[in-house]
Amino acid sequence: MVSRIIPVEPFDLVIFGGTGDLARRKILPGLFRRFVAGQMPPEARVIGAARSAHDDAEYRQIVRDAIAEFMPGAEVDAGRLDAFLERLRYIAVDARGAEGWADLAGTIRDDVVQAFYFSVAPSLFGDLAEKLHKHEIASPDARIVVEKPFGRDLDSARALNDTLAQHFDETQIYRIDHYLGKETVQNLMAVRFGNVLFEPLWNSQYVDHIQITVAETVGVAGRGAYYDRAGAMRDMVQNHLMQLLCLTAMEPPSRFNPDAVRDEKLKVIRALDPVPPADIVRGQYAAEGNQPSYRTDAENPDSTTESFIAMKLHVSNWRWAGTPFYLRTGKRLRARASEIAVVFKDAPHSIFGEDKNRHRNILTIRLQPNEGMDLFVTIKEPGPGGMRLVDVPLDMTFAEALGPEAQEVPDAYERLVMDVIRGNQTLFMRGDEVQAAWAWTDPLVEAWEEAGDRPHPYEPGTTGPEEAQMLMHREGRRWREIRAA
Ligand code: BG6
Repeated sequence: MVSRIIPVEPFDLVIFGGTGDLARRKILPGLFRRFVAGQMPPEARVIGAARSAHDDAEYRQIVRDAIAEFMPGAEVDAGRLDAFLERLRYIAVDARGAEGWADLAGTIRDDVVQAFYFSVAPSLFGDLAEKLHKHEIASPDARIVVEKPFGRDLDSARALNDTLAQHFDETQIYRIDHYLGKETVQNLMAVRFGNVLFEPLWNSQYVDHIQITVAETVGVAGRGAYYDRAGAMRDMVQNHLMQLLCLTAMEPPSRFNPDAVRDEKLKVIRALDPVPPADIVRGQYAAEGNQPSYRTDAENPDSTTESFIAMKLHVSNWRWAGTPFYLRTGKRLRARASEIAVVFKDAPHSIFGEDKNRHRNILTIRLQPNEGMDLFVTIKEPGPGGMRLVDVPLDMTFAEALGPEAQEVPDAYERLVMDVIRGNQTLFMRGDEVQAAWAWTDPLVEAWEEAGDRPHPYEPGTTGPEEAQMLMHREGRRWREIRAA
C-alpha cells in the first residue's frame, strides 16, 4: 500500500489553552506526527496561547516534555523534533482581559489559512470569539475549532451556538467529536457505501438488531468534578455513540460532502423515538480491593450520576422500523473494547434440522483496539460426523490486510486538525445536529432525575450491572462479550 501524504496549505494555528491537558496530550503530539509525515508545509506555524507568562523557549520546552510524555515508546528523531519546535510561538493572552490581543493581531498572517482552536472551557468560547472579532484578528474565512462538552442540554448548546454565530459563520465553525476522526468510523461509511454487498441487507427486513458498545477500563479519577455533572449519557451517548448510531443507520448521502453527510445524520437523530425508562439501565461502579468506587473518584458520596448506561432505541423510519439499536458504554469495565455489531436475522428456513436458529450472520466493526471487521458466516464443521454447522469469522484486521502502514493510521485528532486546515467539515458536527442530539437527550435525563432514579452498582472489571443483561435477555437476545480483541 502506498500512503499518500498531501501537504496542506501554509497555516497559522492558534491554540487557546495551548498549555492545557488536551493540547499537550493530543493536539501538539498529533501536529508533530503530521510534521514528521511531511504534511505540514515549511511556512506553517503553531501559536500557543494561554494566560500564564512564557516566552517561546519556555513553551517549546513544555511541548518537548509533552511529546516525551504522551508519545512514549515512539521513536522521536531529535532533529525533526527541533525543527518542529522551531515552528512554535507563544503569546500570553487573557480571554477576558486586554492582555495579548494586540500582540496576537500583529503575529497572525493574513495570507495563510487561519485556524483558532478553542481548547478551553466552553464558558470562554464567547469571550474568545468576541475578542478575535473586535481586534480584527480573524480573516473572513478563518476557522474556529471547538470541543465537547458542547453544552449540557439543549438550552446551553443553543446559547453556545448563538454566541459563536454572532461572530462566525457556520462554515467557519468546526465542532470536534473525536470519534468521527477514528479510522474505523470512517471505514463504516466506506464499507456501507462503497460496496454493493451490504446495502440490500441493511434494513429491518434482514437485520434483527444492532449493538453499539464503547467499553472502557479507566475510571473518572482526576476529572470527577466534570464527569459527575455529565455522566455517561452526556459524556458519551449524546455525542460519540450518537455519531456511531448515525453513521450506521443513515441513508446513503448523495455525495461525500459535508452537508450531504450531515443532512443524513440529522435525519437519523430526528427519527429517534423517545426512550421509556424501562429501556434504560444506569450503573455506577463500586469499590473493589484498593480501587476506589465511582463516588470516591467523583468526590461525591451521594452521587446518582451514571458511569455506565445501556439502552434500547428505535429509529422510526422505513428502513429501521422494528429493528432495535442497543447502546452501552461504561467506565471500569472488563476491557477497553468498542464495536458496532450488526446482527442479522435467522435464515427463513433451516434445512439442517436441529441446528435451526442457532446460527446467525453478524458483521462486527471494531473501533478499538485492533481495528478491523469480522463477518461471521455459517459453514460446515470440517470432518466426518454429518452436517454440523459452525460460525466462523471472515476476519479483516486492517493491520493484517493492509500491511504495516495501516498500523500507522493517524490518531483521530491529527486527522481532524488537518481537515480543519483543508477546510473540510465532513467529519465535524453541524450546530443543528448537536441541538437535535440534545433535544432527544434532555427528556430522558429529566425523566430519571424527576423519578429520583438511582444507578445500579456494578463490580469493576465486569460488563456492568446485571440489569443491563436483562435488557437483552427479556427479548431473547444477548450482548456480545466485552473483551480486548
Ligand atoms: C471523551 C470522554 O470524549 O472520550 C471520556 O469525555 C472518554 O470520558 C473518551 O474516556 C473516550 O475516548 P477514546 O478515544 O479513548 O475512546
